[in-house]
Amino acid sequence: MDVEKLINRAVVNTEPMFSAYLHSRGNAAGVPVSATFELTARCNFNCKMCYVHLQDSALCKSQEKSAQWWIDLGKKAIEQGVVFLLITGGEPLLREDFPEIYTELSKLGFIISINTNGYLITDKIVELFKKNPPTRLNISLYGASNKTYENVTGVPAFSRVVENVKNLKKMGIDIRFNGSFTSLNAEDSEAILNISRELNTHVKGTQYMFPQVLVGGKPGENPCRLSPEEAARKRVEWLKLIYTPEEFEKRLKAMVDGVDAFRLSCDEECGEGKVRCRAGKSSAWINYRGEMCFCGVAGHPFSIDEYGFDGAWKKVKEFSASIRTPAKCENCKYRNICCVCAAACYTETGNFSTVPEYVCRMTENIAQLMKNEVERLGIGNGN
Ligand SMILES: C[S@@+](CC[C@H](N)C(=O)[O-])C[C@H]1O[C@@H](n2cnc3c(N)ncnc32)[C@H](O)[C@@H]1O
Ligand code: SF4
Ligand code: SF4
Repeated sequence: MDVEKLINRAVVNTEPMFSAYLHSRGNAAGVPVSATFELTARCNFNCKMCYVHLQDSALCKSQEKSAQWWIDLGKKAIEQGVVFLLITGGEPLLREDFPEIYTELSKLGFIISINTNGYLITDKIVELFKKNPPTRLNISLYGASNKTYENVTGVPAFSRVVENVKNLKKMGIDIRFNGSFTSLNAEDSEAILNISRELNTHVKGTQYMFPQVLVGGKPGENPCRLSPEEAARKRVEWLKLIYTPEEFEKRLKAMVDGVDAFRLSCDEECGEGKVRCRAGKSSAWINYRGEMCFCGVAGHPFSIDEYGFDGAWKKVKEFSASIRTPAKCENCKYRNICCVCAAACYTETGNFSTVPEYVCRMTENIAQLMKNEVERLGIGNGN
């Protein structure tokens, strides 16, 4: 194995620890340790729950930034301290100039991950990744059959995506699956997990889907997402699938003792009522129009052409620090098992300080289902 591959493997293995350390330093110092470049909002799929690709494709294309713009932005991002770069979309591989953007950004020394639906892995992309592998590819798996894929994405793409994954894995590329569950594919959860096990690839299952944010920033519907009750049921079922019965019981016991043993919440160090994740503290999101936001779904953009990278980052930081999340969440007994975040508040209710009812209902149901499990296994009192 050549040195570059060895180094890449070492980075993959140590990345979570390294990332947690740098982000905590970044949070304290207000340095953007990670950035997301959303190269496009266009997509070759048409997923019914997607919050990104709702706009008119031609209009999106006309608003996109050029390859050179993203490469120049990469240089500014490195100067400001960005180490981890996530390239996403829409579907980033849909851009014809993706190879140029990727190649130039890689030369700058970022640790690069790419979010993709895994369909457009052409020979050209295979060659590109052979020469210069990303640290990680996050591939969304939308079903366990062509039929489910067609229901969710409009394209019967299952066989092709799996084939692509197998080829990429043969090349030694680190792949993680994302499973986003809605009423259209939740029945495939177990089959998706089995496929991920067969392919020896970790899968992260998400049962909470944000509402779609329509043009104009208004909170929208998301007609195909699960009801809060169903999302809770699927969440607990998922936890029982991904852990062995012994591990599930061990984690349940730890949860009864007050430990966030299922990592259901994602708190960072923060003050009361403030944004709990890294958004606008050590991470920045740059959308396809070239605007910096504190997070991908909750909007509030600042134009980089107007403020520059560092100026936009200052604005994003100030904005993130000014957000006050619901007081009720601070003292809530379910806080440790609730996935509430500033973005969920905003997209569900139109403002950051109102409790999102959907999330509350989902969490209360998770709590009840966990309590049932505690009683079934005779552990603690289940409160
Ligand atoms: C927007 S896609 C962009 C990258 C690529 N096209 C893909 O599908 O992975 C990134 C991730 O967001 C998820 N996603 C889409 N709509 C969502 C929503 N309303 N709430 C939560 N996640 C969503 C997708 O399933 C995917 O895993
Ligand atoms: S593949 Fe990704 S960007 Fe495309 S529609 Fe689906 S979720 Fe949205
Ligand atoms: S359950 Fe409701 S009140 Fe409690 S933390 Fe979650 S969103 Fe906030």
